[in-house]
Amino acid sequence: MNQSSLSQSQSTVALVGPGRAGTAIAIALVAAGYEVTAVAGRAPDAPSVLVAAGRFGARPSSVGEAPRDADLVILATPDAVIGDAAASVTAGLRADALVLHCSGSSGLEVLAPIAAIRRDVRLGVLHPLQTLPSGDVGAARLAGAWVAVTGPPEVAALAEQLGMHPFTVLEEHRDRYHAAACIASNHLVALLGQVERVASSAGVPLAAFEPLVRATIDNVFALGPEAALTGPVSRGDVGTVARHLAAVALDEQHAYRALAAGASRLAGRDDDAMQELLG
Ligand SMILES: NC(=O)c1ccc[n+]([C@@H]2O[C@H](COP(=O)([O-])OP(=O)(O)OC[C@H]3O[C@@H](n4cnc5c(N)ncnc54)[C@H](OP(=O)(O)O)[C@@H]3O)[C@@H](O)[C@H]2O)c1
Repeated sequence: MNQSSLSQSQSTVALVGPGRAGTAIAIALVAAGYEVTAVAGRAPDAPSVLVAAGRFGARPSSVGEAPRDADLVILATPDAVIGDAAASVTAGLRADALVLHCSGSSGLEVLAPIAAIRRDVRLGVLHPLQTLPSGDVGAARLAGAWVAVTGPPEVAALAEQLGMHPFTVLEEHRDRYHAAACIASNHLVALLGQVERVASSAGVPLAAFEPLVRATIDNVFALGPEAALTGPVSRGDVGTVARHLAAVALDEQHAYRALAAGASRLAGRDDDAMQELLG
């Protein structure tokens, strides 16, 4: 099968795991001309299965039966059960089907139950480097997002069809890649949680920080992290940093010190007084 024939020949989709990512990808696939023929989840009558099947005009199905008439099978279950889902779909796969999972933390090895038995199907990974909080919001965010792809060229072609920018990560770098993704999203959220707590202790709402946060992120991507860094650590202003540490609650100090040390590293500072203060 060549890339140019993808949209014509791989037009039917089985969705296994109709949660946030699976529904987002299925919505994007439908918008690109695909037909979702079956939806499977924890059980054929699970609420998420019935909702997604109704939305896509697909049949609610068991996991094993879902791929019966599908050219493309999306396994979008929680990471811990991708292997179980792969084992369940194996016997029912069409010859030449393309089976994808969406996890950033594992590669093709979790699809080993399929690879061991079905040499007539193709396996891949499509990990959108995007946060998909719901099907609808996620679907709108897929176009323009970068996506880590593994597998035959059809996986990258599919990503491009959905308006995403595919890139590859060496298997030996997968954990580092996924760590970077978690830092970029989850740790940023945790950091903004700290902003909310410290600001509210000063009577200032989180909303007041939105223009500052957005401008800072714009600066990072326009100038690079090093040039975007401003503030007392980058200036070596030990007195101000000491006053901050004295002012914030005890249980906020550890994170403040760790991030201030990160800022100091980025600024290339090695002043002793600052290092001593940050521990
Ligand atoms: N959400 C994101 O931002 C995002 C971004 C990139 C990649 N991903 C990847 O996408 C995959 C799914 O993540 P998610 O955030 O979409 O999770 P999620 O919202 O929890 O959805 C998981 C879906 O799988 C179903 N499910 C649970 N156990 C199952 C089983 N044993 N067999 C079949 N279906 C089962 C769930 O059923 P119920 O509805 O009944 O719970 C739910 O529909 C993961 O590999 C994740 O790493 C997610």
